Amino acid sequence: MSQVKHLISWKDWTDGEIQELLDFAVYVKKNRVYFSGHMSGRSLAMLFQKTSTRTRVSFEAGMTELGGHAIFLDWMASNFLLSDIDFEGKYLSSNVAIIMARLKKHEDLLVLKSGSTVPVINGCCNLFHPCQSLADILTIVMDSPNDWKKKQVCYIGVHNNVANSLVEITAALGIHLILVTPIAAKESIVAEAIDRAQKKGTVSWEMDVHKAVSHADYVYTDTWVDMEFFNDPKYQKEKEERIQMMMPYQVNADLMKHSKAKVMHDMPIHAGYEITREMVESDRSIIFTQAENRLDAQKAVILKLLENHQ
Ligand code: CP
Repeated sequence: MSQVKHLISWKDWTDGEIQELLDFAVYVKKNRVYFSGHMSGRSLAMLFQKTSTRTRVSFEAGMTELGGHAIFLDWMASNFLLSDIDFEGKYLSSNVAIIMARLKKHEDLLVLKSGSTVPVINGCCNLFHPCQSLADILTIVMDSPNDWKKKQVCYIGVHNNVANSLVEITAALGIHLILVTPIAAKESIVAEAIDRAQKKGTVSWEMDVHKAVSHADYVYTDTWVDMEFFNDPKYQKEKEERIQMMMPYQVNADLMKHSKAKVMHDMPIHAGYEITREMVESDRSIIFTQAENRLDAQKAVILKLLENHQ
């Protein structure tokens, strides 16, 4: 059997492999019906330690469209809660063709991978959200099919898992990414991802948010507070401090008035914080198309990871 390929982050994928996967995602999107039945008789296990709307729905609907079956596993209602992650993962991989997991800690995902004999997909951990970033770039490619490599993407927000995966994927594909990240905690930044982008010359930092958006073709923002802490009373003080610090970086009509950029957000949206409702609903928002594209991106990932795996 050929070596199992996983999607934990883009680190283990070459630039060429990422480009090939993106091209394939475009093909899957344009030829939706062609792939129906390609996963017939196969199951995807979806393990969630955190909440989700898009990741769960897009993987489950994607597997259904491919003719396969998806099994939702709530961490708290499974015996992952009680046992060793690699043992549970080893068992899981004996019954399903592929696993997607949204775990809190990246290290736990690596343990799950170590026990699994089938591909493991990262459905978002504390450090990376690779599936989201594939859908993001797919959205840009569909929006600017002729010159997407020349487009500038500006990410405004806290340096987080979404930012790390954007740094990685834009580096691999040669897209320029401007980071406006006033909050960038050391533990959230993946140095290897930054190194890859710096070697390619695809990443730069800008603290003048008005200047950054004036050059951008796509302005991308994300929550200022990790979703698992958003409603946590223990996190309220830090949440208030973050909101105060980040408010000048809100994506709103005033910020965007000197920019022609389209607006992106990976969702869930906290309207009135990182972005205003007006911008979400404006003509320049491609946010709902971006979310819709998770489906095609997820299908491409599943098909690609299982192409040589019987
Ligand atoms: N963007 C994203 O991953 O959405 P969910 O958290 O709802 O899955």
